Amino acid sequence: MDRITIRGGNRLSGRLPISGAKNAALTLLPCSLLSAEPLTLTNLPRLADVDSFGHLLNELGVTTTVKRGAGDVIGREMTMTASALASTVAPYDIVRKMRASILVLGPVLARAGEATVSLPGGCAIGNRPIDLHLKALEALGAEIELAAGYVKATAPKGGLIGGRISFPMVSVGATENALMAAVLARGETVMENAAREPEIVDLCRCLVAMGAEIDGIGTDRLTIQGKTSLHGATYEVMPDRIEAGSYACAAAITGGDIMLAGARAEDMEAILAGLREAGVHVDATAEGIRVQASGALQPLTVSTAPFPAFPTDMQAQFMAMLALAGGTSVLTETIFENRYMHVPELARMGADIQVHGRTAIVKGVDKLIGAEVMATDLRASMSLILAGLAADGETRVHRVYHLDRGYERLEEKLSAVGADIERQSDG
Ligand code: UD1
Repeated sequence: MDRITIRGGNRLSGRLPISGAKNAALTLLPCSLLSAEPLTLTNLPRLADVDSFGHLLNELGVTTTVKRGAGDVIGREMTMTASALASTVAPYDIVRKMRASILVLGPVLARAGEATVSLPGGCAIGNRPIDLHLKALEALGAEIELAAGYVKATAPKGGLIGGRISFPMVSVGATENALMAAVLARGETVMENAAREPEIVDLCRCLVAMGAEIDGIGTDRLTIQGKTSLHGATYEVMPDRIEAGSYACAAAITGGDIMLAGARAEDMEAILAGLREAGVHVDATAEGIRVQASGALQPLTVSTAPFPAFPTDMQAQFMAMLALAGGTSVLTETIFENRYMHVPELARMGADIQVHGRTAIVKGVDKLIGAEVMATDLRASMSLILAGLAADGETRVHRVYHLDRGYERLEEKLSAVGADIERQSDG
């Protein structure tokens, strides 16, 4: 297992290219299952989760070819062809490694009339049930059976039928699964209280490029006119707003000046508003977003909630930054019930954080001190990297495979803007 060693204290400055978005990629890849014609995705990030998803698609009978992309983020280009599906089963061995595998349920069901996916089970940041995914598919006429750790969905004879889906709470994944099923259902589907994260907009645009008809894109009410088939397309994955937000925090916590090349400000309003309130200078330009910090960081009160509010995927990184603010911050996590696993690790570095249920009280300290820390999930790992960049002395972050799931070439990107960071193999 690898670890990352950081000698903190360097002020970061320069240009840092933002990669294609992991969470957009993970919902665009299964779109390939919806058509017999090829889907080409460009600007795909080079990440462990994207590779795992490619293997899952291969398992289902999709042929994949990968090319190195052009441009400075060196994203990849993958062409996926699902002429016919070889299997309708997503097995335990793949699903347990990557929860997003559940996103093949809707498209395989819509295309083949049935789909069987291993239940994803619990995960480090909470229970993460899939009941909303299943209810949405039932609203399109599917029958759902649960047996031996698998969920099997079967469409009526003649295929899924358009329906009305009213989500009791906002779910990104359930909205994605429902969309990918509804585009091939007979007739009209109306979805209410749909998630409207930028990654959902990206999914809708890709589906439209494949011939789908969707109204209300970017709102919480989506109307879909089902088609009997979709065609091939080429689609560029959006830039990763969470990667960009994470590196914005790296600039903030080191008093640095970073140009997040390719980042899109309109996808990140709540994150940028938080940075500005903390006293960081943020400037959106044609090239990307420039983040400049100097002087003391101000404390914040932030609550996570579905888009357009502040994203749960940025909570841990903001916490690391606020650990060094001049005053007391209050962070409330409303999406996942167990997303404070970075708190004890940050405390090992000298942070003063108390958790009361879903709220964390962060009292700013003068300095953090390098320590050996353990990564527990993807964004928690990033908060430890950020703390390490600002800390006195050396920080060693263990179990970095979490980071490899979501941050492309992390050490390379941070070294290029002046960080003293390297990866070692634990052997
Ligand atoms: C996606 C993102 C993840 C992000 C999250 C919230 C991907 C691959 N992952 O995860 O990075 O943190 O959105 O922005 O895109 N819920 C249910 N029943 C369900 C589904 C969800 O109760 O059937 C609950 C969850 O437990 C959670 C909340 O709804 O409390 C939101 O989850 P959801 O939006 O579905 O997150 P994911 O799609 O899993």
